[in-house]
Amino acid sequence: MPDTPLPSPRQLEALDLDAHLGDPWRKQAFVTPMFEHIAPRYDAFTRLFSLGMDARWKSELMRWFSAHAGARCDVLDVACGTGDLAVAAASARPGAQVRGVDAAGAMIARAVARVHASDLQRVRFEQGDLTRLSLPDASVDVVLAGYALRNVPDHVAALAELRRVLRPGGSLLTLDFYRPPFAPWRALFLSYLQLAGGSVGWWWHRAPVIYSYIAHSIRRYVSADEFSRALAEGGFTVAQRRDYLLGGIALHHAKRRDA
Ligand SMILES: C[S@@+](CC[C@H](N)C(=O)[O-])C[C@H]1O[C@@H](n2cnc3c(N)ncnc32)[C@H](O)[C@@H]1O
Repeated sequence: MPDTPLPSPRQLEALDLDAHLGDPWRKQAFVTPMFEHIAPRYDAFTRLFSLGMDARWKSELMRWFSAHAGARCDVLDVACGTGDLAVAAASARPGAQVRGVDAAGAMIARAVARVHASDLQRVRFEQGDLTRLSLPDASVDVVLAGYALRNVPDHVAALAELRRVLRPGGSLLTLDFYRPPFAPWRALFLSYLQLAGGSVGWWWHRAPVIYSYIAHSIRRYVSADEFSRALAEGGFTVAQRRDYLLGGIALHHAKRRDA
């Protein structure tokens, strides 16, 4: 990651958000500093904002993980944030090697602080870009991706990178927000996210954009059906899918197909 000064929340607020999100070259320049600022309150915000549902979605995803991961598997949690999924994987599989990667150093610092001293050899976190991983081809059994691919400039290119590091037959488990297909519900859903996010962003940072970003990013993202198609076209077989909130949230379990 480039070593440039972090823009303040006020500076982020002054940026043209739509221009940044619409331009793959500028999107990451907005997203990474925003998550650096969010990191200290990310867990509290996620619980509050999802009205506690985030924990339920993650437990369902980790139930799928437990049903498929081998006892000594290699696990990669991309855009790991404060490490919720990586820590859950490590506790579900005490023989697994778990690695978490996130673009924001402040997220990584929080994730590292959660790892028990006796697990430090097998649960590691590092700052990095999920679209350019430092891992060799076919070196991972399970990739976990919680609210990850919506935040990168090009989710199709990111899927190719995740497929590259997965072993053939390996599992990609994702949880994310998607554009709900039914227009009246989409309008209501995005209005809630924009209003609630903007209020918390103003209250905590005097910068509504910090949390109303979620609504903006969903508006520009794909539906869960379109994401399933991107998986199929990107060399995966969708093995399981579960939608919540009328398509506003979905879990996918996709397996890397052999070429
Ligand atoms: C909404 S948080 C998700 C955190 C965690 N996975 C969870 O489920 O709670 C999104 C994370 O994506 C990270 N991120 C954004 N772009 C990234 C990139 N290109 N490579 C790695 N991480 C990225 C952000 O820094 C942020 O921590």
